[in-house]
Parts: sequence; structure tokens; C-alpha cells
Amino acid sequence: MTRHFLNLSDAGHDAIAAMLNDALDRKAVRHGWPRGKADPDAPLEGHTLAMVFEKNSTRTRVSFDMAIRQLGGTSLILDASSTQLGRGESIADTARVLSRMCDAIMIRTDDHAKVEAMAQFASVPVINGLTDLSHPCQIVADLLTIIEHRKALPGLVVAWLGDGNNVLHSIIEAAGLMKFTVRIGCPTGYDPDDGFIARAQAAGGTISLHRDAAEAAAGADVIVTDTWISMGQDHADAKLQAMLPFQVNDALMALAKPDALFLHCLPAHREEEVTSSVIDGPQSVVWDEAENRLHAQKSVLRWVFHQI
Ligand code: CP
Ligand code: NVA
Repeated sequence: MTRHFLNLSDAGHDAIAAMLNDALDRKAVRHGWPRGKADPDAPLEGHTLAMVFEKNSTRTRVSFDMAIRQLGGTSLILDASSTQLGRGESIADTARVLSRMCDAIMIRTDDHAKVEAMAQFASVPVINGLTDLSHPCQIVADLLTIIEHRKALPGLVVAWLGDGNNVLHSIIEAAGLMKFTVRIGCPTGYDPDDGFIARAQAAGGTISLHRDAAEAAAGADVIVTDTWISMGQDHADAKLQAMLPFQVNDALMALAKPDALFLHCLPAHREEEVTSSVIDGPQSVVWDEAENRLHAQKSVLRWVFHQI
């Protein structure tokens, strides 16, 4: 059966736990090596990953490119604007063609239905590299970063501050699968999708919504935020104003546990969703988090190829 990774639940608890262990092991072995050197076992030798971008990317693009190289394979980067997708060729036909020439497809796009269509018509694995709905690859890296900093997932309290967006949806999904708590500090009108919350609660996660940032952050193990304006959204003054009380700053960090971590998927907008003092401060692990995209994406690739 072809494995697709459109959301974290496509893998489930056991596979995500296995991906995290695999990422930790492979990362440890490579310590100090040149980044372009392949892992000794080169488990994806001969495999080519096609990466389709309908939105900008730095981390997702570089991490998947380096991930497939370290696994012994190679990649193709297809910016939609310079392919026939940008001239209206359908996702279905693109999926059929890429499946005849490549071994897996990673796609970053706007409408999640496009990723679903890619998976429906592809005969090779399809990976969601971010849609307006979710960003599962990011959250594998986030979980890896949290574990590396010696915090266990069961019982963990994560406080999200800001917009109820794609990244938050995948954190909520992870909370259900890995049994932790997410306290969402979010202004009225910018809540995350109800369906993600309901499914995570049914699966055993603890999810709560707070209109008071301090209430969400109190005693948390991890504080996480993201841009207030995601790719494809209008820069609305009303939204920026509504988000102001949810800025992650020193006063807010002081409410969390003394050893709380600060996470941000990046790119960051300093002095908007987070102050420089926090993102450049001692509790910030954002550079580990960014590096972990590489290690996490290797495990996602190995999972879709049934190696995990
Ligand atoms: N965090 C993340 O996905 O970054 P990019 O948009 O640079 O890929
Ligand atoms: N929420 C952000 C994440 C970027 C990695 C966006 O969709 O633009």
C-alpha cells in the first residue's frame, strides 16, 4: 500500500514515536560530518523526490533536499510558476506524470484539497510540505526538539499564542496522538478548526481555548507561536491589533515554567508575534528546531518508504 503523509494521523502514535527515535539515532551518528555526505547505509539510494512549491519556502525546501541526499537519493525542485502547473495543468495529471518519473512527491500549496488530489492520483508517496490547513512535517521536528531538550511528551503542557493556523492544527493533532495538553491563547475570531480540536480530544489529548494569554501560558513547558499573517493571507490591521495581547515577550515567558522552551517554526517577525529578547534569549530553541527539520524529514521519508 502506498503511504502518504498528509497529516500526522496518517502515521499515528507508534509510527511517529518510531520516526522520532530514528531521527535521534541518525542525527547522533552524523555528528560533525559534512552535511552533504550520505549516511553509511544510504537507505534511499537511487530514489528521487520531486518537490512542488506553490508557496515560498526556505526550511522545507532545504531540509527535504538535504534529507534525501543524506539518505542516498536525490531531489528535483519544481516551482509551480515555472512548470505547466502554473499554466493550469491539473494536479491529477501532474501526479500521474511525476509518479512515472520520480519515487515520491513533496508538495507545498494553499488548498489542502490539492494535496489530497495529488495523493489520490499519484502512485508514489505524497508528503504535505504545508497547506493552509496543516504542516505535519514541521511538528515532527518540533516534537524531536522537545524530546531532545529532555521533556517527555505524555503530560507535556504546550501553550500556543496567536493565530489559529495551519501549524497549530498539526500541534493539536499531535496532542491527540502523543497524549499531551495544548492551551491555545487566541483572540476571538481567529480560533483553530473545531474538527482538529474534537478529533484530538477524542484521541486523548487535552485542548483548551483561552482569551487571556497569561492564562494559556501559566506553568507551561513549551511556549510556541507563529506569524500572525500566514502566506496567502491579507495584512489586515484589525488582525494585527487583535493579536497584540498574545505577543510572546519576557513577561509572558516569565509565567511559564522556569525551564520552559520557546519554539517558532520560522520565519519570525521580531517585535510582532515574538520579541527579540525571547527569540534570541536563553529559552529559545528555534535554531535546533530549524535544524531538526532535516533530521525529522529523513524519518518521514523513511516512513513513507516503509523503512520505519
Ligand atoms: N517552517 C517552515 O516551514 O519554513 P519554510 O517556510 O522556510 O519552509
Ligand atoms: N503559518 C505559516 C507557517 C510558515 C512556515 C504560513 O503558513 O505562512
